[in-house]
Amino acid sequence: IPEHSLDRDCTTLSRHVLQQLQSFSADAQDLSSIMNRIALAGKLVARRLSRAGLVTGALGLTGDTNVQGESVKKMDIYANEVFISVFKQSGLVCRLASEEMDKPYYIPENCPVGRYTLLYDPIDGSSNVDINLNVGSIFAIRQQEGEDLDGEAKDLLTDGSKQIAAGYILYGPATVLVYTMGKGVHSFFLDPSLGEFILAQENIQMPDHGSVYSANEGNFWQWEEQIRDYIRYVHRHEGYTGRYSGALVGDIHRILMQGGVFLYPGSVDNPEGKLRLLYETAPLAMIMEQAGGKASTGKKRIMDYIPSKLHQRTPAILGSKKDVELVLSFINDKD
Ligand code: AHG
Ligand code: MN
Ligand code: MN
Ligand code: MN
Repeated sequence: IPEHSLDRDCTTLSRHVLQQLQSFSADAQDLSSIMNRIALAGKLVARRLSRAGLVTGALGLTGDTNVQGESVKKMDIYANEVFISVFKQSGLVCRLASEEMDKPYYIPENCPVGRYTLLYDPIDGSSNVDINLNVGSIFAIRQQEGEDLDGEAKDLLTDGSKQIAAGYILYGPATVLVYTMGKGVHSFFLDPSLGEFILAQENIQMPDHGSVYSANEGNFWQWEEQIRDYIRYVHRHEGYTGRYSGALVGDIHRILMQGGVFLYPGSVDNPEGKLRLLYETAPLAMIMEQAGGKASTGKKRIMDYIPSKLHQRTPAILGSKKDVELVLSFINDKD
């Protein structure tokens, strides 16, 4: 990438999408516009987060519980609304499905059938919001297939290969957008002076091993014995270090950049684990694989997993090839 030339500052996300698709077709332009609107959502959420402590009503709980059974933060709802607002009157996305909505949100006006669907986690790691630690947004774009007349969005109950694009926005010291369209993983930094996400790294390839393992060891006694054996292994062997932020996007970005493994296994009570497939583990699985890593439920490739419901949860072992394989070697020992 040319260093700080005008060309670099003009390598915006929307231009990069067209380069990725090597096309200026209407479809390519649509996807470029969709990514541009996701970037706009990211800018709106980043602005709100940076002011959250000063804006009354920005922080804290709404007092409601969402379809996940979680207490909802005001920021969850704000960010959820942001994604809906940026796609209204866009004619690009006709259906939005999110962690915070029981059923998908339909945008009826000028939305021909077969248009795009946005799946998203508006604020990932919301337990970090009130303490000014990093949070993220996760997104995936799929094509609507069929009519979906009953509002059940059954066409979304398909495997990860249906994801046309996937990625995340990390609201950290800088706001970073990372995405893939199946042709490599690319990162963009928000340049506040321009109000644009500018290309930082193309075709990111994660190391095939890293020293980090990232897991909530508070769940140790709920995990299966094989997972406990893996944790005992990394405790006893030199060269491993624990890092866990409580926000998936931040933990995954560390692993994308430096290698290692993130695991959120199932437990005795919740064998499917906590993380949701369609807007958390499947988009991140696409990123991991495109960056040369692996993404497994422990039993199968996450990208092959076919959900039975919109808010399907899956256990997740995401990260560097060798590190994911080490975890799997403990799980498969029992078979
Ligand atoms: P969300 O805030 O979107 O509900 O996601 C929270 C997820 C994920 O970000 C994180 O890795 C995990 O929950 C943390 O769970 P524990 O607090 O159980 O470790
Ligand atoms: Mn949540
Ligand atoms: Mn989440
Ligand atoms: Mn969330």
